[in-house]
Formats: sequence, structure tokens, C-alpha cells
Amino acid sequence: MRIDIVTLFPELCDTFLSTSILGRARNKGLFEAHCHQIRDYTQNKQRQTDDYPYGGGCGMVLYAQPIADCLREVIRQCAEQGRPRPHIVFLTAAGQPYKEETTRRLAACDSLTLVCGHYEGIDERVIEEFGDEEISIGDYVLTGGELASLVVADSVLRLQPGVLAEEQGYQEESYWDNLLEYPQYTRPEVWEGRPVPPVLLTGDHDRIQAWRGRQSRERTRTRRPDLYLAWCESHPITRIPRWKRTERACLVRDAAQMEAAARLAAEARRTLYQTAGVVPGSEPSPQTLREELENRRREGWAFYLHSMSGTEDGLVGVCHKTGQIGYLAVTEPSRGIGIGTRLLDFARKKLAEHDAPWVAVPQDNLALIGLLIRMDFRAQTAANPGKMTGILSENVGFRQQIYRIQTPLEKKL
Ligand code: ADE
Repeated sequence: MRIDIVTLFPELCDTFLSTSILGRARNKGLFEAHCHQIRDYTQNKQRQTDDYPYGGGCGMVLYAQPIADCLREVIRQCAEQGRPRPHIVFLTAAGQPYKEETTRRLAACDSLTLVCGHYEGIDERVIEEFGDEEISIGDYVLTGGELASLVVADSVLRLQPGVLAEEQGYQEESYWDNLLEYPQYTRPEVWEGRPVPPVLLTGDHDRIQAWRGRQSRERTRTRRPDLYLAWCESHPITRIPRWKRTERACLVRDAAQMEAAARLAAEARRTLYQTAGVVPGSEPSPQTLREELENRRREGWAFYLHSMSGTEDGLVGVCHKTGQIGYLAVTEPSRGIGIGTRLLDFARKKLAEHDAPWVAVPQDNLALIGLLIRMDFRAQTAANPGKMTGILSENVGFRQQIYRIQTPLEKKL
């Protein structure tokens, strides 16, 4: 790959591209880089590169002409090497947001030319004439495009074959794709009283990978809900984890089972209230929940208790009249081993007479929303009516969103 940077500070850019991993790769000839001084292409005696903006306003604007002539020279050099016309990117705060997808797309170019603005901007006409795209590296304004062009160059060049040869772990299509990275630790084992998570010292590769996967997903869910939901859509659960030999789901019939169901439902409601930041103390008691479940039963709901080796640790409810799934609960110690997934799948199969079984979910319960999306439920939107705002209790308002199964079960199976 050939990369060109058109700038008022070529030495700055060149130093960066000659340092560390990129410097080594450049010396090995894994890419070619050229930094061009815009000032060398001026046509005035003072070698002035900018002027006042037409229409007034503060700051200065870079002339079109020196940038255009510099770009013509870059295009000529590429042609001389038998390369195609370079892909020309202007770095400006008004550009399209820079993403990993953009990195991959640009990394596929044979030649990439990055033009750095300075001062208040660049004469728009040179962008119109030469620019294939405009990129911004974030919603903040830099004094110039140099740092932005180096961000683009760094992220594109690290994808070139051989550049990360020693860093084999960073495979572009890795499992961690589109999730935030899991936390990393190195020696010593205990630093200032903080131990490394014990699982990392077990040498059990499968457990370590599973732990890292959970950390990545958890971090992405809490720090970047947008990325998490996109990841869920692109990572459907196509194989439901098998039920363990000691695992059972039984219909709630007698008083003792109803008692257990109410306890589980009350625990789930408490967690829900905590995450929603509801005033402590307003959570319904198991007694209130039992009345609620009994009323629901009279309205056509059926509840199923999940148990593992005889210990009740999960609950789900289905309403045959309406096709609703609800009251999903898994006790704290039993979370993270697929019980929620199995219960949701169990519930939707119980509702096989409904084309699109549905769940009402508080809008900020991203863990459940993510799981539903991965299980082929989708939010109802204006285009797909049915969106509602629900109230879960008298004093606490929760915004709820309906998620319906996207593909009817018999078509899926
Ligand atoms: N120039 C000034 N601010 C910028 C930004 N955020 N991204 C790219 N180029 C810029």
C-alpha cells in the first residue's frame, strides 16, 4: 500500500510513520509513505497558504490551489508507479464519523491520500474537485487534520499483511470483532493488593476464553449499548443450549410451587427496580407477587418453575390468550449458564399456536433485550405497530417496549 499525507507539518507526520511498529514495517517495505508540504506548492512570494474567508468570520481558510497542485503531483507519482488513482480523503471535523468498517474499506485501497486541513478550514472547491470522502475522527474540533490523518493511517496500516506479524493475536476477523476488548493483566500476580482474576491463572484455555467473552460482552453492554445491540443482531443464537440431565421445568400447580414462583418473581422485580434506580423500599413483596401471579393465572397465564438438581432457580410465565411471555426470572447464582435462554425458548414453544409470541421489556433492560434479539425477537416500531409504554406499578413508571418473535417457529424449525 502507498499512503500520502498532504499537510503543513510533513515532518511531524513522517516521524510518526517512522516510529515503533509502523516504522519497522515501513523499513521492511510493507508499505510506502510520503508526506508532502502544502507550502511547497504555493505560487505567491510569501509562500502563504491561507487567507481570510469570503463573507467574513474569524480564522483563516487554506487556499485551494496549493492543495490541488500537490494532489495532482501525488496522482502523477502513483500513475508513474503503475498504481491506480489514489483514494483521496479530507480530514475535517465535518466529515463522516470514522469507524472500524471505514478502516477495513480504506485498508483495501492500493493508494490512500490523506489531506489535512488547518486553521478554520479548506476552500470547499478543492474538496469538491478531488475529495472521495471527508472523515472526522470524533465529535470534537482539532487545531488541524494531522492527528486525524495519523489516526487513519495507523488504523489502516496495522491491517496491512505483515505489519502486526508479531502481534498475531490481533486477527482482524477475531471472535472479539465489534465488541470492546476484555481486560488484560500482566505480572505481578498481586499488584498493590489487587489480584489478577483467578481464572486467568488456571491454564484452562476454554474457561479463560469463556471468561474473556463474558467480560467483552458485559463491558460492551454497559459502556456501549449501541455496539452491543448491533453485535446481538449479528450474533443470533441458532443452537439453544441443551437441557442438563438434572434440569426440569414444571407447571406451577400447588401452593408450595406458587410460593416458590412468587419468591423468584419478587427477586426478579427487585433486580429490575435496582437497575431502573427506583427508590429502595418500593419493591413489591413475595406476598404481593403471589397475589399478582394468582390473578394472572385467572386471566389465562401458566407459570413454569425451573429447577436444577431439585433447587428452584428460575421462572417463566406464558399467556395462551395473548401470546405473551413474562415473569422471566433466574436467581443470581444460576445466571450466565443459559437458563434464561432455555426458558425463553421453552416458553415460545409452549405458545406454538401464536405466530409471534411477545415479551414486554423495560427499555433499559439491555441484558434481556440483547438476549431477545439474539433469539430472533425484534422490537415493534412505528412501521411495525404495537409499541407501548407500560406502567409496572402505581408509583413507578417504566417505559416498556414490546419484542415479538420475528420468524414464526414452524418456519424456523
Ligand atoms: N480537523 C479538525 N477536527 C477534526 C476531527 N474531529 N476529525 C478530523 N479532522 C479534523
